[in-house]
Amino acid sequence: MQKKRVRLTLLINLFVYCCFSGIAYSQTQTIPLETKHHALVLQVSDQQDVRISYLGRRLNRVAEYKSIPDTYKQSTDYTGLLNSAYTPSGSRNLMEPAISVTHADGNQSLDLRYVSHEIQQLEDGISLLKIALKDPVYPFEVTLFYKAYFKDDVVEQWSEIKHDERGAVTLHKFASANLHLKASAYWLRQYYGDWAREMQPEEEKLTHGIKVLDSKLGTRANLFQPPVFMVSLDRPATEHEGEVLLGSLQWSGNFRTDLELDPQNNLRIISGINNYASDYSLEKGEVFTTPVFMYTFSAQGKGLASRNLHNWARDYKLLDGHGQRLTLLNNWEATYFDFNEEKLKALLKDTKKLGVDLFLLDDGWFANKYPRNGDTAGLGDWEENRSKLPNGIGTLVKEASANGVKFGIWIEPEMVNPKSELYETHPDWVIKQPKRDEYYFRNQLVLDLSNPDVQDFVFGVVDDLFTENPDLAYIKWDCNAVIYNAYSAHLDNQSHLYIEYVRGLYKVLERVRAKYPTVPMMLCSGGGGRVDYAALQYFTEYWPSDNTDPMERIFIQWENSYFYPAIASANHVTDWGKQPIKFRTDVAMMGKLGFDIVIDHLNDNDLAFCQQAVKTYNGIKGTIWHGDQYRLTHPRENSVASMLFVDKAKEKGVLFNYLVNNRYDEGSHLPIKLDGLDPERNYRISEINLYPGTSSPIAGEQVYSGDFLMKIGFNPQVRKARESVILQLEAE
Ligand code: DGJ
Repeated sequence: MQKKRVRLTLLINLFVYCCFSGIAYSQTQTIPLETKHHALVLQVSDQQDVRISYLGRRLNRVAEYKSIPDTYKQSTDYTGLLNSAYTPSGSRNLMEPAISVTHADGNQSLDLRYVSHEIQQLEDGISLLKIALKDPVYPFEVTLFYKAYFKDDVVEQWSEIKHDERGAVTLHKFASANLHLKASAYWLRQYYGDWAREMQPEEEKLTHGIKVLDSKLGTRANLFQPPVFMVSLDRPATEHEGEVLLGSLQWSGNFRTDLELDPQNNLRIISGINNYASDYSLEKGEVFTTPVFMYTFSAQGKGLASRNLHNWARDYKLLDGHGQRLTLLNNWEATYFDFNEEKLKALLKDTKKLGVDLFLLDDGWFANKYPRNGDTAGLGDWEENRSKLPNGIGTLVKEASANGVKFGIWIEPEMVNPKSELYETHPDWVIKQPKRDEYYFRNQLVLDLSNPDVQDFVFGVVDDLFTENPDLAYIKWDCNAVIYNAYSAHLDNQSHLYIEYVRGLYKVLERVRAKYPTVPMMLCSGGGGRVDYAALQYFTEYWPSDNTDPMERIFIQWENSYFYPAIASANHVTDWGKQPIKFRTDVAMMGKLGFDIVIDHLNDNDLAFCQQAVKTYNGIKGTIWHGDQYRLTHPRENSVASMLFVDKAKEKGVLFNYLVNNRYDEGSHLPIKLDGLDPERNYRISEINLYPGTSSPIAGEQVYSGDFLMKIGFNPQVRKARESVILQLEAE
């Protein structure tokens, strides 16, 4: 059926294409790009403008897409460009442009007309639509790319810009995507945050004008605002209902998304690299490739949209998306900078005792002239600190192996403390204004990754560690500072810095992955300051927040789960929060489990609980990492938050439930309706991860059909005395 439809689409395209390249071009042509449930339809007008005529649910009959525009009787579009597929500026456009330029001769007008298009089948279920556009007056071209992932209803979009003018053209704006939606109303769900309070949601009805989501931070760019967002059509979508688009830019630097409600009441979405302080001088013949903007569209609410994204991410984006992950013991909060070889050897024994896979040595292991004993010095000087580690990392890696665990290490290779030998030797490698006072973020400055020498240095930090310690099994790649005083001693053109920084970063990561393709790496940034799908191609996991108070984490992990799969979420049990160890561990289990506590300080019961929890987790992690995720009751709307993971075969499930309201008599008074089960099968439900000495009222004798569990539900009996309950479902 799917093949038939793709064939039909291709035939129609071929037909219109032939018509166009034949005699006269008078008819409009329709170019539908379909996925399983969604269609993006482009239309070429008789003026050869390329427009988006539809974005929404897929129609049964391809031929009917061309009838869509006539069904709208909206006010006049004076320019014919309100729904442009890539809005130029300086000619007849009156709205926010996707692209604006100054030509080599100083002229600022741009018009882009259809030249040709083609659709390629890349691999099973992935098609790529390319549309070539050209200015009728200037030798200036843009190619639009739309990559459709059929089964996941995901579309990736980007553009290539080039010219053949006599001299450089300045690009003032150069978006990746320009979408156009029609509905009676649009509801934007966006996120804001700061350190330790990432992913705070806000939802509002969009009004006329432009709402801009953006970052100008350069590095750690998502600190105040991540690039992810949702737009619901007509009314706010729920988990199960409503038409909703989830989108994001795949770029680890400054981004900008404009959401413009136009005079016709349609929504224009333009997303790309932030053009703030970033005029780009494009040489003749150079191709400027924008980063990828991606979106998924669901007509069955946010839940399906997020599961589609998770599947897509695990199949195509996240490094080793279908692989395994290492549980670990981290020493950051256990020791901070205060450790030595002896202490670490004891922690390696604790790692073994706890039963996790790996010990992760955090910040503080390096620098000698200015030892890294706090966050004010040493960053950049990546040789082992001789007084803390007289025998080097190698001894620890061996010791880890003797204990039957793996060894991982923390680095922050893009940054430098002014108090460091690196800064003294290479002040020109540092991003800072030559004539102004330095200004610091966590006492550090950012290295200039636009400079190939700096790229070599950063690659060398990773490469040297692996060369000297081939058994090193894990990297935590931190990135704490933003860019202040943006200036590169290397670049001639300062307005290229923000872009070249990110390009430089990707060049380094490419080299790291070419040489070390599989080693797991955590994308850390003092929290969720950096996660995006461009970076996740190089990383196996990300660190959502330094805030590991489990109550806060329920909320932060919840919002992240709309966009990123649980396998990528590194969650550590720490001493943040007042909740008992069981609560903290249960919350950390909803992703990739780690610990950052002093094992020695645990009482016998807590230790026994943690040891058992690691074993329990090993039994359920496959379902959490590779299964489907269902948000059942939302912590912002209910006293009990419930999150369910069901394996793809619908044979196993893990249901996490937490009391998130401490008021009198709050708890799960109603059953919680499950999702994603096989209605015909019976499921045995039992409580797991119990604290030593406690028993459960849900002991495993209870068997219900999937039908019952999804229509009536199950009560996990969450209340003050049972604040955190994990249930296991097993099909009989
Ligand atoms: C910020 C990270 O988020 C923490 O986990 C820790 O690694 C510190 N940096 C170390 O400086």
